[in-house]
Amino acid sequence: MTNIKRAGLLGIEDLDRGEIEAILDRARYFQPLPNETYRRLDTLKGKTIVNLFFEASTRTRVSFEIAARRLGADTLTIAAQGSSVSKGESLVDTLNTLAAMRPHAIVMRHAASGAPEFLARHLQIPIVNAGDGTHEHPTQALLDARTILDHRESLTGLRVAIIGDIAHSRVARSNVHLLSKFGAEIVLCGPPSLLPRELEALAPGVRLAWSMTEAIQGADVIMMLRVQLERQHEAPMASSEYFRFYGLRVEHLELANSDVIVMHPGPINRGRELSSDVADSQRSVILNQVENGVAVRMAVLERILS
Ligand code: CP
Repeated sequence: MTNIKRAGLLGIEDLDRGEIEAILDRARYFQPLPNETYRRLDTLKGKTIVNLFFEASTRTRVSFEIAARRLGADTLTIAAQGSSVSKGESLVDTLNTLAAMRPHAIVMRHAASGAPEFLARHLQIPIVNAGDGTHEHPTQALLDARTILDHRESLTGLRVAIIGDIAHSRVARSNVHLLSKFGAEIVLCGPPSLLPRELEALAPGVRLAWSMTEAIQGADVIMMLRVQLERQHEAPMASSEYFRFYGLRVEHLELANSDVIVMHPGPINRGRELSSDVADSQRSVILNQVENGVAVRMAVLERILS
C-alpha cells in the first residue's frame, strides 16, 4: 500500500481504507460553512507547488490552485500549450527542468496512462496525479466520496450506478477502486462498445449492465460520465442516439431510490449524457462535487506536504 506522505498520490487502487478515511475526514474539516468562504491558513507557507497540465481542465486545475493558496503555498500553473512542450521538449526533460527549480510537489495531468507513476519513479519529489489517460483520477474519486458522504451515512452497502463511457474513464476506475474498498455495490452501464467485459474483474462488487433501466433500479447514487470523444478512435454514436439509450432523464429517477443523488464529474454535455432538468434538479449534486474539489485537494496537499 502507498503512503502518500512519501510518494505523493498516484491512484486510489494502492491506498488503504485508513488513508482514504483520513483524507475524507480532513476534507470535511476544510469544508466552509454555508455562506462562508474558505479559511486562509499558513500550513504550507514556504512550499511551492507546480501544476502541470498537459490536457485541458477547469475544475481540477482551478481547485488545486485554490487549495494550495488556501493552505498558504505558492503555486504556479503550466499548460502544455505555451510551454516548451509545444517546441518538442520531452516529458522527462520538462519534468527535470521543473524539478531543478526545486518545487515541493508537482500536480500533473497527462493523456498517457502511467505518466505520473513514471515520473514519481524518476524524480525525488511527490507527484499528485490530476488524471492520467484512462487510468486514474484519484482526487476526483475522493471528492465524489466526500460528496456522497455529505448525503449518506456510509458508503458500505450503497448501490452506485456508473453510466456512460466507462472504457475511457479514469473517473470510473478510481471510483470503482474507492467504492469497492468500502463495500459498495457497483453497476457499470454503457453501450457495449464502451463497456468491455473485463471491467467486471476490476474490483469486488462490480457488475455490468447494458440497460439503463437495469442499472438504475434501486440505485442510491447515479454517477453519469462524459462521453470522451477525444479518446475514441471509432466513429462515436450520434449525440441524439446516445441520449436516447444512455442519457439520464427525469423518468429514470423514478426507478431509483427516492433519495437518489445524481453526480457527474464534469464537464457535462446537456442533451447527450443527461437532460437539463436532471442536471438542474434537486437530486443533482454536481456543483457540490465541484465545491468539494477544493476541500479534498486541500486535504491531499496538506497530507503530502505538511
Ligand atoms: N472533473 C474534471 O476532471 O474536470 P476538469 O477536466 O474540468 O478538470
